[in-house]
Amino acid sequence: MAGTFVKIGKASAIPDGKSKRVKVGDEDVALWNVRGKFYAIDNVCAHQHFPMLHQGILEDLTVACPMHGWTFSLETGKATVGSGKVKTYLVKIVGEDLWVESLEE
Ligand code: FES
Repeated sequence: MAGTFVKIGKASAIPDGKSKRVKVGDEDVALWNVRGKFYAIDNVCAHQHFPMLHQGILEDLTVACPMHGWTFSLETGKATVGSGKVKTYLVKIVGEDLWVESLEE
C-alpha cells in the first residue's frame, strides 16, 4: 500500500557513514546513515541497473556507484555525475527502530 512504512530494524545496526541493503516490499533499497540522519534510495543504479548503491562510496550527501562511478544525491536521488535519478524513500525513526516508506500500491 502506498504511504505505508515498513519496519527495517534497529538504527544502531547501521553505523555512521555506512549503509545496509534492505528489502522494502519487493523493492531493493540502500539505506545510508550520514552523521545520524538516515537516507533511503533505490539500490539499483540508473546507469546499467546493477544493484550496488549500498556498496557505493559516500561523499557528503552523495553516493558513487562502485561499478562506473555515477553519483546520486541521497536527498533527491538525482544523478550528480551521469544522468537520470533513482527513487528516494522517506525514513523515520520510532524509538530505536528504522521505518522506510513503501512505494508499492
Ligand atoms: S551501473 Fe552504476 S555507474 Fe554504471
